[in-house]
Amino acid sequence: GSKALTVPDIAARKGKTPLVCLTAYTTPVAKLVDGHCDVVLVGDSVGMVLHGMPSTLGVTLEMMILHGKAVRRGLQSALMIVDMPFGSYEDSPTQAFRNAALVMAETGAGAVKLEGGESVAETIRFLTARGIPVMGHVGLTPQAVNAFGGYRIQGRGEDAERILRDATAVAEAGAFAVVLEKIPEALARLITEQVAIPTIGIGASSACDGQILVVDDMLGLFGAFRPSFVKRYAELGSAADAAIAAYASEVRERRFPALDHVFGDEPRTVSEVAS
Ligand code: KIV
Ligand code: NA
Repeated sequence: GSKALTVPDIAARKGKTPLVCLTAYTTPVAKLVDGHCDVVLVGDSVGMVLHGMPSTLGVTLEMMILHGKAVRRGLQSALMIVDMPFGSYEDSPTQAFRNAALVMAETGAGAVKLEGGESVAETIRFLTARGIPVMGHVGLTPQAVNAFGGYRIQGRGEDAERILRDATAVAEAGAFAVVLEKIPEALARLITEQVAIPTIGIGASSACDGQILVVDDMLGLFGAFRPSFVKRYAELGSAADAAIAAYASEVRERRFPALDHVFGDEPRTVSEVAS
């Protein structure tokens, strides 16, 4: 296959053709997205999407490592990034380094992502100086849902200054790219013009240097939440429901298994088997 994309390859795409990014949490989905994407993120959204958690706050380092290993086995060309979960990096730069190094070593990821702006700039500087590439994430940072009081749009009006400062701090600290989540288009365009690293938008308009979506959202597989910025490119949830309903009724009516699915080469009666 083609050579795997590196962190410098991704950073060099600033201002060029849009970076295509999706999440993945399993080997088969990683195989599906690999040929089409520049970046595959093992997001901590895995907690909500695959584990039914009410938010990303309960996601552990062990979960990220387990799903990271699974995704690694399915990728050949895309750059793999793993999210640092809530509580694994905020305490200190040394805590962040210890846990990020574990994630990198165990999963074979090319980089980690962590949420926050000015508050994590020192940590980003510490990690990047020690060989761990970092993707930033500002705007709506879901691990701060309790502080925000919900998943509301960030950076409207006066609040735009804060998000711009956060994005600038992350870029100046050495992050190679930054996710902008759920902010107005004008702010996303301004940040994209002002920072030297690629901006990856989710609910942040096409003014960004790239886009990311949660793969289960865009495939119509995750129904608990329906963010307005998600475009559904397929309705796999409905397709799966119809398939499962058909199976259930065929089993109840003894129409499945039919002749094609039965081992009938050597018919034996129950009495023959029993003797
Ligand atoms: O966890 C995640 O899936 C993410 C992306 C939506 C950016 O952080
Ligand atoms: Na995340």
